[in-house]
Amino acid sequence: MIEFVVDSKKCTRCGECVKDCPVGIIALEDSGPALIADKAKLCLKCQHCLAVCPTAALSVLGKNPADSQVLAGHLPTAEQVEALIRGRRSVRRFAPEPIASDTINKLLRTAAHAPTGHNNLGVVFTVIEDPATMKQLREETLAGIREAVEGERLPKGMEFFAGIVKAWDRGTDVIFRDAPHLVIVSAPKSGPTPAADGYIALCTFELLASSLGLGTLWDGLATWALVDIAPQVGAKLGIPETHELVYTMLFGQPAVKYHRTVQRDQDANIQQLIW
Ligand SMILES: Cc1cc2nc3c(=O)[nH]c(=O)nc-3n(C[C@H](O)[C@H](O)[C@H](O)COP(=O)(O)O)c2cc1C
Repeated sequence: MIEFVVDSKKCTRCGECVKDCPVGIIALEDSGPALIADKAKLCLKCQHCLAVCPTAALSVLGKNPADSQVLAGHLPTAEQVEALIRGRRSVRRFAPEPIASDTINKLLRTAAHAPTGHNNLGVVFTVIEDPATMKQLREETLAGIREAVEGERLPKGMEFFAGIVKAWDRGTDVIFRDAPHLVIVSAPKSGPTPAADGYIALCTFELLASSLGLGTLWDGLATWALVDIAPQVGAKLGIPETHELVYTMLFGQPAVKYHRTVQRDQDANIQQLIW
């Protein structure tokens, strides 16, 4: 049920909801905006109609516009966002103390607002808050890699994991960096864009975490270990069977502080296309 309801006292008939609907299923009738009945099934449930209405006259999917966050006066400046993007760093030194559950919950609930293909909203965040689980994951992953090394079963191109086991034996956790938390994103294989949805969700998570002074690390090593080298450990992560494990990210309170941005030789590789 789309539950498209317009408050005629508030509606100015500006037509913004009609123009902004990505699938063109709203028409401006004499009585005001209305769903085109035979097209209603195309609704993406994106709620653009609710968000774009200047007078909060439109409710959809049972959502009251008064419950939305008003944007005017609540957005960071472009300068602040730029500093956040340029100042974000990969953190490889973490404090052992866990982050408050409420903070983690807020981070994940906000990151879930990242866009997904066709608004499928299928990304699942599998999060480890519990230190004992983190310890067990570390140990089982390393044991799985060790078995692959000893059985000469490391996938081609991943022979360097033998060195990671040696580092572990010397007391250095190159894969999980002693981080207190890990988040794994997965998305339905049947969806239109599972990999992109997962990456975008983690990018969003990372920037928000950085704004809170938390550290994150995209963990390619853990992802390879859990997907390709020790899938028997990956199978214990509880990722839904219909999902693709997209990526893993460590996070926690950093035990390092960066005081300035890095300076890239080139800010960006940009090429102009002129046809
Ligand atoms: C997809 C991806 C996977 C990564 N995997 C790892 C990893 O497994 N271990 C690690 O220490 N750093 C990893 N990194 C971090 C990069 O090395 C880091 O982003 C890069 O050196 C630039 O540093 P910065 O993030 O501080 O700007 C990864 C980064 C990305 C984007």
